[in-house]
Amino acid sequence: MGVLKMKKLLLSAVLIAPSLVIAESSSKIAWTPELLNFVKQGNADKGKQLAIACSGCHGENGVSPMPGYPSLAGQLATYTYKQLRDYADNSRSHPLMSSVAAGLSEQDTADLAVWFSTLALPPQKKADPKSIQRAKKLATRGESKRILPPCSSCHGTEGQGEVMDIPALAGQQPEYFSETLKAYKTGDRSNDVYSRMRLIAKQLSEEEIDDLAQYYLQLK
Ligand code: HEC
Ligand code: HEC
Repeated sequence: MGVLKMKKLLLSAVLIAPSLVIAESSSKIAWTPELLNFVKQGNADKGKQLAIACSGCHGENGVSPMPGYPSLAGQLATYTYKQLRDYADNSRSHPLMSSVAAGLSEQDTADLAVWFSTLALPPQKKADPKSIQRAKKLATRGESKRILPPCSSCHGTEGQGEVMDIPALAGQQPEYFSETLKAYKTGDRSNDVYSRMRLIAKQLSEEEIDDLAQYYLQLK
């Protein structure tokens, strides 16, 4: 077997089999049918009320008005729920968000997550055409030399996200997008189960990350 083929096999094993990953425990959320049901049954009306406290930073309708602040609109409820619980127990830390999330009950968290999931994804924005061109191949085809799977194989061809914990990326605020990918790259953000994003971000240059942020900004 060729070295490349071997490497590819190893990567797919790492992406699939948690036992092969020698990384710190990354999140305390384990998806069970009960937890999935609990999140799904979050009350959007209550979430809407609670979300007033978030709007100063995340925008009126969950569309971020400020660089470095993520949009939450249209995000999968399970992803938002996981991130908030991760902030609450410091599996993901941030000076602002950790205290915000720690003040929310599990019920509040589910209500908020469902509310944001009912909103439309952030509107499509103009992005730098050169960046889009450079990023497109990585996003849609990946690169076997570096064992990079296409981003679309997990995040969807429209950046719409996939079941459970894979977030939508379409229209995400680009400074936030770049910062959070760079944080996976350095390991400052390590709440990705099975190190899926850390393994990928480590192989990307900072320029590629900025290009990818532009690419996802204009998807819809
Ligand atoms: C004072 C500003 C501020 C307030 C208020 C705030 N946030 Fe945040 N939020 C941020 C910042 C900044 C980040 C990015 C932090 C990071 O890089 O980890 C963030 C990140 C998040 C994320 C992670 C998004 C992702 O794509 O991974 C979620 C979910 C979130 N906030 C939900 C909320 C909710 C729900 C509320 C209200 C209950 C809220 N935030 C209130 C500033 C704020
Ligand atoms: C093997 C599946 C997989 C592949 C391939 C993948 N991702 Fe991810 N990505 C994830 C998962 C799972 C998360 C959420 C991890 C967590 O809970 O922190 C994530 C999170 C992210 C985030 C954070 C979003 C937010 O709102 O904070 C960004 C940005 C991102 N991925 C970009 C990319 C890019 C760009 C590529 C391609 C170069 C890529 N991903 C390839 C699975 C994947």
